[in-house]
Amino acid sequence: MKMAAGNWKMNKTPNEAVEFIQNLKDKVKDAETEVVVAVPYVAIPAVVETCKGTNIKVGAQNVHWEDSGAYTGEVSCSMLKELGVQYVIIGHSERREYFAETDETVNKKAHAILNAGMTPIICCGESLTQREQGVTKEHIRYQIKIALLGLTKEQVSKLVIAYEPIWAIGTGKTATAQQAEEACYVIRELVKELYDEETAESVRILYGGSVKASNAKELFDMPNIDGGLIGGASLKLDEYVAIVNYNK
Ligand code: G3P
Repeated sequence: MKMAAGNWKMNKTPNEAVEFIQNLKDKVKDAETEVVVAVPYVAIPAVVETCKGTNIKVGAQNVHWEDSGAYTGEVSCSMLKELGVQYVIIGHSERREYFAETDETVNKKAHAILNAGMTPIICCGESLTQREQGVTKEHIRYQIKIALLGLTKEQVSKLVIAYEPIWAIGTGKTATAQQAEEACYVIRELVKELYDEETAESVRILYGGSVKASNAKELFDMPNIDGGLIGGASLKLDEYVAIVNYNK
């Protein structure tokens, strides 16, 4: 099943989030796509409550790898788990750029999330300079190799990896379906190399970067693209519904 995961970033108050989900739930109830909304921390309790009895799953956009302690301002996996969170986005390029996220912290977070019984959505992707210099493949291989360090085959088979070229995020510039497919293929081949074919088949690989209703089908129909991580378009009800129902 393909996945349409909305990354709301720092948008919508708890009340706005609940209103959105109330309007969303009926429109996606027969979706053949897995529906995930990664909402701001403070909206999680209300959104989980509103999603009860629906096919909408709730995600967070970050987490700390330690389970408790003196980490002012941070949130742990057990806190998220207790709220009913199922997915956690880690390694988003915005967190790497503005909040010092590194491949090493992504790896620690991946372990913590899996140990808590949730699913990480691990982001990777190259900058425009890296693409222009022809090092896209090396860059995403490096990021994912470090992110997966020490994870077992069983853990990796449950993962979601999102390929998000930085130059396509929020810019309106979408990677062509071919470019997105090539990068997702690189990731799947790497998982095969590090683990085996079965693990590579079961890991889910998403594309993110200006996904919208008009390009979702072309992207999601690619053999190595298992869906999308959607930013701006996931905040607009009709646009997001159309992406979820891309195949109808
Ligand atoms: O995580 C999703 C994202 O970074 C893509 O954002 O607004 O280009 O869909 P957007």
